[in-house]
Amino acid sequence: MPRFRLTQTAAGCQLEEQLSRQKPLLIDFNSGPLQHRRLHGGRKELLLKAVAARPGRHVVDCTAGLGVDAFLMAANGCTVTLLERSPVLALLLADALRRGQQDPQIAAVIGRMALVQVEACSWLAALQEPTDSIYIDQMFPQPQKSAAVKGGMQLLQKFLGHDGEVSGLLQAALATNSQRVIVKRPLVGGETPGLVPDYQLKARASRFDIYVRGGKAAQALGSI
Ligand SMILES: C[S@@+](CC[C@H](N)C(=O)[O-])C[C@H]1O[C@@H](n2cnc3c(N)ncnc32)[C@H](O)[C@@H]1O
Repeated sequence: MPRFRLTQTAAGCQLEEQLSRQKPLLIDFNSGPLQHRRLHGGRKELLLKAVAARPGRHVVDCTAGLGVDAFLMAANGCTVTLLERSPVLALLLADALRRGQQDPQIAAVIGRMALVQVEACSWLAALQEPTDSIYIDQMFPQPQKSAAVKGGMQLLQKFLGHDGEVSGLLQAALATNSQRVIVKRPLVGGETPGLVPDYQLKARASRFDIYVRGGKAAQALGSI
């Protein structure tokens, strides 16, 4: 029996780990916790500061995953291009976006989100237009029994494993005309040698490293 399977339920398409009691993974942009963050998180969300989220700004989210970060950015007025290389995740996201479009509470937010199933390095290499922010949140290895990874993200991590080195994606992002590149990393470590961020924002369990256009990393790469 395969370890994982996709099923279509009345609530939507979901990923299940068979022989496990873990709740299946179904992406729901109108879930209680996400609505709470949309309505009450506001500028307290460090992510929004890190990507400089403002109405009308365009963010490329290179690692869409469960779409949580993309949704929060879109809820704050950004138009967001979501890139996701896993066909299974992209299918779950597409299903959630389709349901969200039919929900009057969040349809306007969903209307600012566009999904592309693609490997982000190749998509960035072909990008011609300037963009405001490029966001990277690859799956980093978590300490055993970490309380930081819960629910859907835990199942996602079991399904995909960790994403490997961020440096290729970071270099592809820095080579574009983006105003800033933001990498979410563990609180300690995970640096890319030779590419020093211009500044950092630190949360309890992770940090955002921010590379500005023409900043230290761009100079190191000779891309300005
Ligand atoms: C940690 S999750 C992202 C979580 C996301 N920020 C959220 O709010 O749900 C990382 C996701 O990025 C995807 N990913 C990793 N590297 C990628 C790449 N080079 N191109 C496209 N997707 C990638 C993985 O398949 C995974 O779904």
